[in-house]
Amino acid sequence: MNVQEMIETARALVVGDRGLLAIDESTGTCNKRFARAGIPQTEEARRAYRDVIVTTPDLGACISGAILYDETIRQKTIGGTPFVKVLTDAGIIPGIKVDLGAKRLAGHPGERITEGLDGLRARLQNYVQMGARFAKWRAVIAVGHGIPSRGCIEANAQALARYAALCQEAGLVPIVEPEVLMAGDHTQERCRVVTEDVLRRVFDQLFVQRVTLEAMILKPNMVLPGLTCSTQETADEVADATVSCLLRVVPAAVPGIAFLSGGQSGELASARLNAMHVRFKAPLSRPPWALTFSFGRAIQRPALEIWGGDDAHRVAAQQALLHRARCNRVALRGEYDAAMEQAGRPEAAGSATVSTRTRGDGAKRVAEP
Ligand code: G3H
Repeated sequence: MNVQEMIETARALVVGDRGLLAIDESTGTCNKRFARAGIPQTEEARRAYRDVIVTTPDLGACISGAILYDETIRQKTIGGTPFVKVLTDAGIIPGIKVDLGAKRLAGHPGERITEGLDGLRARLQNYVQMGARFAKWRAVIAVGHGIPSRGCIEANAQALARYAALCQEAGLVPIVEPEVLMAGDHTQERCRVVTEDVLRRVFDQLFVQRVTLEAMILKPNMVLPGLTCSTQETADEVADATVSCLLRVVPAAVPGIAFLSGGQSGELASARLNAMHVRFKAPLSRPPWALTFSFGRAIQRPALEIWGGDDAHRVAAQQALLHRARCNRVALRGEYDAAMEQAGRPEAAGSATVSTRTRGDGAKRVAEP
């Protein structure tokens, strides 16, 4: 794939009113979620669950790309069709998580560095052969007393940039994900300061490593207060802080920003995304890049709970997944309303006033492990 093809893929992932679905939980993370839901932690159960997700009818109307995991990209439906083919046939671009997880950073208690650069060039070539057209690497930045440290931010920024350069060499669009974690009692302002600092370092390193910004996607956190902070800002305040922070540090050459959900409830993630599209809609305030979603838990969680390891609940689980995907599609138009959650059918509910004004709108509903 040449640079122009990567640019086209990056644009296709973020334009219009579609976003990305992250089904790239590592085996360990998937098993933890299965254990909580009482589902057996086997390879077949993981395959069966991903089978439910990828075969959801009409998913391609809301989802532009799906991020898979090493195990998942090799798997097939019960009828023997590779997941990659099912997705591609549905108009969904397949992608792959390529980092090997966040490990303890030596000399930096409480901080982590994402590993996986060794041997990455060969793994990327393999994923290209399997049909992947983009990749993802997640760095995690914890906020707390005295952290994040300079050492943690710089080590992760450099790893993200080296990963991105290797992806583009292989013809894959890199999704660059520096996640400032929600855990803690820090304020929204502290999250803003840390997010801005981290993104500045990441873009410095992307420049140093000669990454083509037009052929990448940024996957950041929204600017949020810590989960246990006593003040929980409104969706409008989150939207304003997030977009103004990104405007300061993300070059206009980047085609799109696709937010992670980070453990927010599905409803809050949709409301906050919606508020960004309502408040930054006017021609003079519209950001230079597309703003979309790349949610994992905020789309999948109800579907996983409903499925519960039993294919008798397959259709209901798919409906729940599609509902959340549609809520986010509507949010990208600035037309999401909490009333759609009751109706369960976002596009049947019509457009209405966006209810994003309540302070602390559901702080208790925020945390989803
Ligand atoms: O790396 C994280 C996932 O791609 C997004 O998952 O929306 O549950 O944070 P999340």
